[in-house]
Amino acid sequence: MSLMAFTNFSQIVTLQGALVKDGRNLSSEDLSIIENASIVFDSNEIKWVGPHTDLPADYAGISTEDFTGKVLLPEVVDSHTHLVFGGDRSNEYSMRLNGADYQEIANAGGGILSTMKSTNNLTQKELLDLAISRVEKIHSYGVGTIEVKSGYGLNYEKEKECSLIIDKLKSHFKGRVQIINTFMAAHAVPAKYSSSNEYLNKVVIPLLKELAPLHIIDAVDIFHESGYFDEVDTQQLFDVASILGIRVKSHADEFQDNKGAILAAKNGALSTDHLLMTSQDGIEALANSSTVATLLPGTGFFLGKPQADAKAFFDAGVKVAIASDYNPGSCHCDNVILIASIAAPHYKMNIAHLWSAITLNAAHALGLKNQGAIQEGLAPRFSIFDVNHIDKITYNWGTNFSIN
Ligand code: NIG
Ligand code: FE
Repeated sequence: MSLMAFTNFSQIVTLQGALVKDGRNLSSEDLSIIENASIVFDSNEIKWVGPHTDLPADYAGISTEDFTGKVLLPEVVDSHTHLVFGGDRSNEYSMRLNGADYQEIANAGGGILSTMKSTNNLTQKELLDLAISRVEKIHSYGVGTIEVKSGYGLNYEKEKECSLIIDKLKSHFKGRVQIINTFMAAHAVPAKYSSSNEYLNKVVIPLLKELAPLHIIDAVDIFHESGYFDEVDTQQLFDVASILGIRVKSHADEFQDNKGAILAAKNGALSTDHLLMTSQDGIEALANSSTVATLLPGTGFFLGKPQADAKAFFDAGVKVAIASDYNPGSCHCDNVILIASIAAPHYKMNIAHLWSAITLNAAHALGLKNQGAIQEGLAPRFSIFDVNHIDKITYNWGTNFSIN
């Protein structure tokens, strides 16, 4: 693509201040908003951004589109979804309203293992078609990068198929939506295995070793939680991933503080996610690391559980992202902008923390260091909204202003 100018935005929200501060300890000014702004870019990078009146004369003849009355932000990223699945678990919602909790429902035959059955009942084509329609819907909100986890196949062949489906999603959406393929065969332990470690060694690790040379896996994730995978399993998987040269992540400290955040930070994980029960030592470990703490408020809302102590994370200087956790069980909501808008007042986030959490920090949670702010030299990844001021997006909870 040759040079292109998008001109006359009411605001370009650059997040340059947030970038300088590595997404931590932000104040509202770190949104670094330019009013009446324009941007010049090619397919690889942003060439120039600034007030329209300062647009260099050299760019006078290039292809130009006018965006009067609109706002441009760094691309919104949903850094945690489980959108390859069959079936639905709508019945669990009313079970919860009747008093059952997530783990009781899982023990009664619901939960991840019930989605495993529905997923195994669908063909690769059926699962891919469902996943494509889910990505289309998420993209319609203005989300341009979506992380997708495998993890509902839970046997060697179906997990392999799920990872290949995510790879197909990646090529299907190439140039339109960036898909990040996270391998999460360590999502739950099927009943036929006597221990989590047996499943890990018979299925998860051999499959990861088979897929790694195909270069389709961007990251490895594990549900480090009691009743799922323990610290020994998690460290073993992290070690294998490290040898294979693949970055790691974890679901940690969701039901109890199992020191998952500390283990993730120690292993240089890209992110560790959930963190509802993480205690101060875990928060400190994250603050002193490059690991992003990804909070998933939709899951707490949906399950009726308490929320993460977000203020403690911000006060300690942790780099915080927010993601949807879109999945059929614990959060059947796919709109990360809505979720972040609802969560921010409860999390006592300022507006720079809110937008960094779903742009800059979310991109870094996926290892995407060349995006997340609007600055010369970074990738031209941005989201455009049909509002004349950024505050109107979060003020109008749940209204979709995206222009795609
Ligand atoms: O992030 N915690 C593990 N995975 C999902 C839940 C998946 C499910 O309930 O199906 C989560 O909440
Ligand atoms: Fe999850």
